[in-house]
Amino acid sequence: MNLVGLVGWRGMVGSVLMQRMRDEGDFAHIEPVFFTTSNAGGKAPPMAKNETTLKDATNIAELAKCDIIISCQGGDYTSEVFPKLRASGWNGYWIDAASTLRMNDDAVIVLDPVNLDVIKNAMTRGVKNYIGGNCTVSCMLMGLGGLFEHKLVDWISSMTYQAASGGGAQHMRELLTQFGTINAQVRTLLDDPAAAILEIDRAVLAAQHGMSSEETKQFGVPLAGNLIAWIDKDLGNGQSKEEWKAGAETNKILGLGAAFGAREIPVDGLCVRVGAMRCHSQALTIKLTRDVPLDEINDIIASSNQWVKVVPNNREASMRELSPAAVTGSLSIPVGRLRKMSMGGEYLSAFTVGDQLLWGAAEPLRRMLRIVLD
Ligand code: HSE
Repeated sequence: MNLVGLVGWRGMVGSVLMQRMRDEGDFAHIEPVFFTTSNAGGKAPPMAKNETTLKDATNIAELAKCDIIISCQGGDYTSEVFPKLRASGWNGYWIDAASTLRMNDDAVIVLDPVNLDVIKNAMTRGVKNYIGGNCTVSCMLMGLGGLFEHKLVDWISSMTYQAASGGGAQHMRELLTQFGTINAQVRTLLDDPAAAILEIDRAVLAAQHGMSSEETKQFGVPLAGNLIAWIDKDLGNGQSKEEWKAGAETNKILGLGAAFGAREIPVDGLCVRVGAMRCHSQALTIKLTRDVPLDEINDIIASSNQWVKVVPNNREASMRELSPAAVTGSLSIPVGRLRKMSMGGEYLSAFTVGDQLLWGAAEPLRRMLRIVLD
């Protein structure tokens, strides 16, 4: 049975991964080895079989015993350990949630419902590094994969509404704390039906402006009752790194662009942080390669994979089914607001939502593990 090293299994993405692996019975197919950066020698979780103590995640010799390693430990860990492990001669499969290795030539971004052919091809060529994609990109492709498959996409402009969880667990806590601070500030006024709404609004603003650096430690500014029109690093050309990833990763996932001798499909837009918990949403303007009837488009999107769901483009269904609160905790990828735009028959609008901890992080990794094991 394959020895599978698990690193970062206690963090937020790692915990979601462990839950999904339990749900899908993945542990029946592997001999797990649990690694730790802080508690070597401690007791491994109940899914352990023969290796019941935690191993040191920086011990290259211990890591090198594994046939496959899955890391949710983060980019700093990957940067520190992965080169040493490969330098030691280890030739196992490295499956990683961190972005560190994503764009390397010897790495594939995994999203098998969309790019199983790219993955299989790479495995045949002996590629051993399989990296989860950016959450927004993965969720978008899970929703719109059918349009790419049918070569219907000329370009896409994506406007994102990204949840707090994209920043990490502490960001989610900070968002909720900020909501609490604001609520506490206006509670008495809210309890008084005669209180003027503009007075309440002024109090909310005062609470936001008055937040301490401790209360905005993660986001830098208040997110509760607000939004942040920038995610990740400033690339210095007006684009954020998160926005750059949309085009770069989409094309790499699909096996498009110069490296594959195929036309690169432009995907670009603005990435915005909103006060949702763990679902990323995005509004898309899609320039089609030809004017395809809407019912055909609906069918193409809906039949792309078993998780995508076309939501009828009406008020009731959009409100009920096309929101973070509707999708959180599920693998469902609803795609709605599908309509031809006033610019012409080749311009399609869409809105999609995905749980960024599931399809955006953990799920493609555990599925890659199963592909390696098969
Ligand atoms: N970079 C993403 C975000 C999360 O900040 O929302 C991980 O892909």
